[in-house]
Amino acid sequence: MFQFGKKKTQTTQNYYELIDKNNIPKHIAIIMDGNGRWAKKRNMPRTFGHRAGVETIREVVKACSELGVKYLTLYAFSTENWKRPSEEVGALMNLLVEYLRAEVEELHKNNVIVNSIGDISKLPQICQDELKNAYEKTKNNTGLTLNLALNYGGRDEIKNVVKKIAQLIEKGELNSDQIDEELISKYLYTANMPDPDLLIRPSGEYRLSNFLLWQVAYTEFWFSNIFWPDFKREHLYQAIYDYQNRDRRFGGIK
Ligand code: IPE
Ligand code: IPE
Ligand code: MG
Repeated sequence: MFQFGKKKTQTTQNYYELIDKNNIPKHIAIIMDGNGRWAKKRNMPRTFGHRAGVETIREVVKACSELGVKYLTLYAFSTENWKRPSEEVGALMNLLVEYLRAEVEELHKNNVIVNSIGDISKLPQICQDELKNAYEKTKNNTGLTLNLALNYGGRDEIKNVVKKIAQLIEKGELNSDQIDEELISKYLYTANMPDPDLLIRPSGEYRLSNFLLWQVAYTEFWFSNIFWPDFKREHLYQAIYDYQNRDRRFGGIK
């Protein structure tokens, strides 16, 4: 029906056409949430949801690569997720190994650099080995950097920076006057990466859950009720379209 004076409603399919390909966010961060509830809705075990979530990772990585996003940071396992039953933690670790084994060739072919943030020394040895294999294989690529946040916590990250700086001062290698924002950023897991432009959290939760606390100071947030296994590239395009229509002022005046 023709609606005079009303803005045309967008269907999910046409967001790709609408996004400005010259203004793609450099860094997108995603809290991949809702796998458990997605499975519960289907009377399936939570791990079934995690497995379905891996499919979404494949699709989103591909879409970001094609769009020319430079950094994609995926929150896969938080420092707090160890509180879950050991069976679920184990299943998540197995899925990580499975994902890397199945995907590393394809990622390499697509010029993706595999990286991680977080304290991976606490992950099972097999996960660490597969990660190192993926870093090694993809380190000379020049496309998308896929940052897997594993045993990652924003507070843990900042605590480590404080420790590092205290040690440098103790050794007389640093003076407290030299501590500035740039120095702190240099010791974060994300050193040398731009801060996220866009942070996406599906699943209907409106919180950060200890993700990238320092880095999101001026990030644009995009929330949705969709569970991660149902998140498709159209949702990513919609998030980017919305991002492009935000007015980022960084505290200044336009
Ligand atoms: C996100 O899904 C995956 C991880 C945290 C590893 P959840 O497992 O948190 O799913 P919900 O939030 O319980 O639905
Ligand atoms: C955040 O999700 C962590 C990951 C997606 C890896 P959670 O499901 O752990 O967060 P809360 O418990 O709902 O805050
Ligand atoms: Mg959750």
